[in-house]
Amino acid sequence: LATIRFNLDGIEVGQSVTILWRGLPVFVRHRTEEEIETARETPLSELKDPQTDAARVKEGHAEWLVMIANCTHLGCIPVGESGEYDGWFCPCHGSVYDTSGRIRRGPAPTNLVVPPYEFLTDSMIEIG
Ligand code: FES
Repeated sequence: LATIRFNLDGIEVGQSVTILWRGLPVFVRHRTEEEIETARETPLSELKDPQTDAARVKEGHAEWLVMIANCTHLGCIPVGESGEYDGWFCPCHGSVYDTSGRIRRGPAPTNLVVPPYEFLTDSMIEIG
């Protein structure tokens, strides 16, 4: 299917799920206030692939982070809630992503990719 709909109900704050879209794993994370604040307060000058947190989420829905779950280095699946920036850690070669999925350390060249998606309602997204 080119697009999929996914219901966010039941994903608690601080919880992540992985779903499949076009055969790709996609992380859907319900971020905590602290994670959002940390991501927002990070100066762009500290980022290898500078992108604001606001550019990676939908307006009014900053608690939801939706990203293709493949490390941008060689495609491994990073582990969530780990690494020194409390985001994701890729065990293959040590890339570290922050709470916005932005690359902070290691060989990955770019941030985790945000796929095209929209909110259909406050609890329903459509990816693709
Ligand atoms: Fe993730 Fe290499 S594939 S660091």
